[in-house]
Amino acid sequence: MGKYFERLVRPKLFEMDSERAHEFGVDAMALLGALGPVCRLLEGWHRLGGMRPVQAFGLTFPNAIGLAAGFDKNARAWPAAAALGFGHVEIGTVTARGQPGNPRPRVFRYPAEEAVINRMGFNNDGADAVAERLSHHPGPGARRIPLGVNLGKSKVAEIDQAAADYLSSFARLAGYADYLVLNVSSPNTPNLRQLQDEARLRELLGAITGANRERTLASGRPRVPVLLKIAPDLTFPQIDAVLGVIAEYGLDGIIATNTTLARPGFFATVDQTGGLSGSPLRKRATGVIRYISLATRGRLPIIGVGGITDADSAAEKLDAGATLIQVYTGMIYRGPFFPAELAHALQDRRVH
Ligand SMILES: Cc1cc2nc3c(=O)[nH]c(=O)nc-3n(C[C@H](O)[C@H](O)[C@H](O)COP(=O)(O)O)c2cc1C
Repeated sequence: MGKYFERLVRPKLFEMDSERAHEFGVDAMALLGALGPVCRLLEGWHRLGGMRPVQAFGLTFPNAIGLAAGFDKNARAWPAAAALGFGHVEIGTVTARGQPGNPRPRVFRYPAEEAVINRMGFNNDGADAVAERLSHHPGPGARRIPLGVNLGKSKVAEIDQAAADYLSSFARLAGYADYLVLNVSSPNTPNLRQLQDEARLRELLGAITGANRERTLASGRPRVPVLLKIAPDLTFPQIDAVLGVIAEYGLDGIIATNTTLARPGFFATVDQTGGLSGSPLRKRATGVIRYISLATRGRLPIIGVGGITDADSAAEKLDAGATLIQVYTGMIYRGPFFPAELAHALQDRRVH
């Protein structure tokens, strides 16, 4: 089916402005998600129920492939994710306050390189609106597939106020999340990546893990697994420091990686601000995953993301030590059947 998408649908979509095409994709998924029986039929058609499930941080995933953060920023598309073949979906990044993001255009495709540069800047409706939207659907444990909620810092919050800003989103959204992600690695919010520095990270993780404990004690509800999403541009000593803080606060896992500020090869002469994703990110993201897996002796669950465009690049992430993987840019180029095709290809290789 992917062939037909690439031949017939993709050329039409690529005539549109990148963000307009993205909005079209979200609208189409939102519509599909509203048609429950059609979703169940598609799930049956993909035969994903028969796959070997993956266990990670106390959750069961029907397969290893997830939709990465940034596609469904406002929790509109996720109900259709299982029907496309995804084994999990991560909404967001959501910030405490709604914000418009950077001026358009802010997403740029590079088809020959199978890459994207984006500087969206956390455009989203804000934690209250997203919580309200999620409240109309089944909650944690009652969904077709696990739902991750990715949290970021509001642009108006000073870096010194970051922990309080994340705490406010946590309070609003923790009850709807199968797992939570602290995104400290988007390159498009000024200073955000400073939260990867040891002292600031300690403050953030201390605040969130403390609130998570208190919430469990107060409500008796299970603790929500919390993961940290990091940049591919950290040096190995910086990654060591991050892993030290993660161990100190008992985080449940790590997502490696976000988009890169590096401009390898063809991109050395591309003058476009933002984070680069897709094929040019592949090797670096895999290197970070391999490093983390070795440094933690495989004990810290890793969600591997960055440049997965086919079964080989997906298997590479799993071989490097990822427990789960996610895709975003690959789906822009391969289309909506990509996750199901990937799930079957990996199953055939028995790599997960
Ligand atoms: C247009 C676009 C928007 C994104 N927005 C977010 C976001 O809001 N939060 C986040 O954690 N990552 C975001 N990402 C990063 C992806 O989740 C992923 O980490 C990165 O793109 C690498 O994976 P890929 O090569 O499969 O795209 C975004 C990526 C793209 C292309």
